[in-house]
Amino acid sequence: MRTGYALLLFFGHTFIPAASARFSLKDSYVGQNFLDGWTWDTLDDPTHGRVNYVDKEAALSSNLSYASGSKFVMRADDWNTVDSDARGRDSVRIISRNAYDEALIILDLQHMPEGCGTWPAFWSLSQQGPWPNGGEIDFIEGVNLDTQNLASLHTTPECTMPQSRLESGNPTSLECNANVNYNQGCGVSFAKPASYGSPFNAEGGGFYVIARTKQEGVRIWFWSRNEATIPDEVRNPPDESQAIEPQDSWGIPEAVFPLDNNSTCDYDSHFNAHQLVFDLTFCGDWAGSAYSTSGCGGTCEDFVNKNPQAFSKAYWEVNALRIYTANY
Ligand SMILES: *[C@@H]1O[C@H](CO)[C@@H](O)[C@H](O)[C@H]1NC(C)=O
Ligand SMILES: *[C@@H]1O[C@H](CO)[C@@H](O)[C@H](O)[C@H]1NC(C)=O
Ligand SMILES: *[C@@H]1O[C@H](CO)[C@@H](O)[C@H](O)[C@H]1NC(C)=O
Repeated sequence: MRTGYALLLFFGHTFIPAASARFSLKDSYVGQNFLDGWTWDTLDDPTHGRVNYVDKEAALSSNLSYASGSKFVMRADDWNTVDSDARGRDSVRIISRNAYDEALIILDLQHMPEGCGTWPAFWSLSQQGPWPNGGEIDFIEGVNLDTQNLASLHTTPECTMPQSRLESGNPTSLECNANVNYNQGCGVSFAKPASYGSPFNAEGGGFYVIARTKQEGVRIWFWSRNEATIPDEVRNPPDESQAIEPQDSWGIPEAVFPLDNNSTCDYDSHFNAHQLVFDLTFCGDWAGSAYSTSGCGGTCEDFVNKNPQAFSKAYWEVNALRIYTANY
């Protein structure tokens, strides 16, 4: 990368690409930092899930959200049955107060929600509105008994992805425009094992790293907890004193979404600063419609209403989330 830049400068002055970004620590969320840096959303789930998002006070008092010095946990109620006329099963949706544009995000995740009826996501959303202006980027998402992560973009029109990209995962759709294909978005299904659900949790989770720049679009890497190739700077991310940038030695990303001016989806007209979101809903537009072919019994809403004990593994356990912003 650095060599290529030097050669281009040497050979001519007609095309000088921007240098690749280096990133510096902006926000570090570990344990109790989540309580100050994020807000608890109580909206009706826009994806029509069988969920009742509770506020921060209720979440903390019922231990649906829990923070210690080194852990942050968000879970579903796994002890009450849910009345059929209630809004849904109690759960949590949190959104970061800060918004980030070009950034490198390092998530050290111990456990993610798993099981029939579940639909968890870690994603980012423009503050601009109305959706999908400014874009949505889903980093971690899946439903029911899925075992592979699906990363996707949802955008305004005129944003498509090439079939052939230097990525390990497999495209499931190339159309990012949220107004077509019933808002399927342009997804990439991860190829590495243990990127999602029960296999992810059985390994003790792992590391998700997201780089988002105008020059190189959105790139997402994943390492399972016990992989030998986890980069040192991902396992032990730097503090303010040291910059970080993606390295060739990190290998090919699981998912790549090119967004430069020369791509079929340009960054500036589809994306701006995003807030980060963790949520956990049930059934609804995706987990509900996929339920009958998921290997889970009965109907989704009935299952969610009547089987609290089935949600004992429906929790996020975050070791650390660090956001580095671009510093050219
Ligand atoms: C609250 O949840 C945390 C994380 O799962 C757990 O360690 C703790 O024991 C729980 N506290 C209570 C009072 O149940
Ligand atoms: C893309 O084009 C816009 C406007 O022409 C320019 O400001 C921006 O720097 C370009 N971005 C890249 C990554 O080349
Ligand atoms: C733009 O894309 C075309 C087609 O993929 C390619 O041939 C060309 O080299 C690209 N130009 C730049 C400046 O990246």
